[in-house]
Amino acid sequence: MDKVDVVIIGAGASGLMCAATSAYRGKKVLVIDHSNKAGKKILMSGGGRCNFTNMDASPKHFLSDNPHFCISALRRFSSQDFVDLVDRHGLEYTEKAPGQLFCQHTAKDLLSILLTEVEWSGAEIKLNTQVNSIEFLSEGKLLKTNQGDLLCDSLVIATGGLSIPTKGATGFGYEVAKQIGHSLLPTRASLVPITVQPDRKETLNALSGIACDVSAASNGVSFNEPMLFTHRGVSGPSILQITNFWQPGEALQINLIPELSLESLMRVRQESPKKSYEGVLSTLLAKRLIDIIKLDFPWLTERSAQISNQQLEALYSSLSDFDISPNGTEGYRTAEVTLGGINTKEVSSKTFESQKQKGLFFIGEVLDVTGWLGGYNFQWAWASGYCAGQYV
Ligand code: FDA
Repeated sequence: MDKVDVVIIGAGASGLMCAATSAYRGKKVLVIDHSNKAGKKILMSGGGRCNFTNMDASPKHFLSDNPHFCISALRRFSSQDFVDLVDRHGLEYTEKAPGQLFCQHTAKDLLSILLTEVEWSGAEIKLNTQVNSIEFLSEGKLLKTNQGDLLCDSLVIATGGLSIPTKGATGFGYEVAKQIGHSLLPTRASLVPITVQPDRKETLNALSGIACDVSAASNGVSFNEPMLFTHRGVSGPSILQITNFWQPGEALQINLIPELSLESLMRVRQESPKKSYEGVLSTLLAKRLIDIIKLDFPWLTERSAQISNQQLEALYSSLSDFDISPNGTEGYRTAEVTLGGINTKEVSSKTFESQKQKGLFFIGEVLDVTGWLGGYNFQWAWASGYCAGQYV
């Protein structure tokens, strides 16, 4: 039987970070993963270029039933700390949107930095390793795996959430937590495209591929970012962001013209009486979308001077609360993250050790901490992995 100081289950973002940090402290560390490759989600993230952090990351960008939990780790390992790490390796990166740092070339460059750190630290990675059972014994934690038994002093669960099962996601971490009496916050797919109801799908299908700047609002939160019509419904940053706050059945407001007010639409009649409202909208919306709007408002092609207040009110109301008839989400199949997870009230925010089982640690997405879209989720993985790595 192999005996090590630390076993980390999950060779993803948080697990690799924790492995290097703890092995640099002189610990004998083994990372195991049931997958045939480490860091699969890193490779597919950010459209293949990994939005690896956000320079603006702060607790307000995270959702949790226990909002104070993330404060300490985000402070102890900041986005600047991660940037310093990748700078030491000469990673080329770019700021695509304010604060959002992406690899300049490919996410492979970032993964290779993490794997290099793991190698330099002396930690080992064993892939294709399935854990069949865990026993908490007085002499350590005993893991029975398909590759033999392992005994360790500290066990770190870094198995992530449920999104993208085809890339290795499982509910393993939740099962371990339940085994020792932890409570879980309900989980659901988030940062995920929204599907629309079948009767609305037919109309919206004609818009597939069109993007526009919208405001998506639900439960008192709104995001002014692009939305993309897809052949299943809607996606794009504003939609992914709002799924952290919206659930099927709740109100969702999509404003196609966040830059325009009813008053500004009315003023067009005095300022440009010969201009049509089709012309006004054409600076904001794609032609195919305007064609659909024209089905309900055929007068869009007429001179603005001829349009009544009542007509404009109807147009404004329709565009500022555009009917997408949301049905649900695409679920874990395409979601970027899992909302909910292990109750952080039962985990130390300093060490990430379970309050129910000494020597057992939870890090990363398996915990009930979920970031907004924009590099925040990786920052949580790095920060929690680094902080736990100091104590395992
Ligand atoms: P992660 O999922 O990285 O790793 C978990 C590891 O555990 C995996 O290697 C898995 O194989 C392994 N595992 C699971 N079950 C196991 C078991 N039973 N036995 C052994 N091993 C097991 N975030 C961000 O900040 N910027 C971005 O650009 C993106 N983009 C993005 C795109 C897509 C398509 C997805 C799906 C996700 C993102 N994310 C993101 C989110 C980000 O990928 C995610 O939050 C982190 O990878 C979470 O890190 P963890 O270490 O917690 O889990």
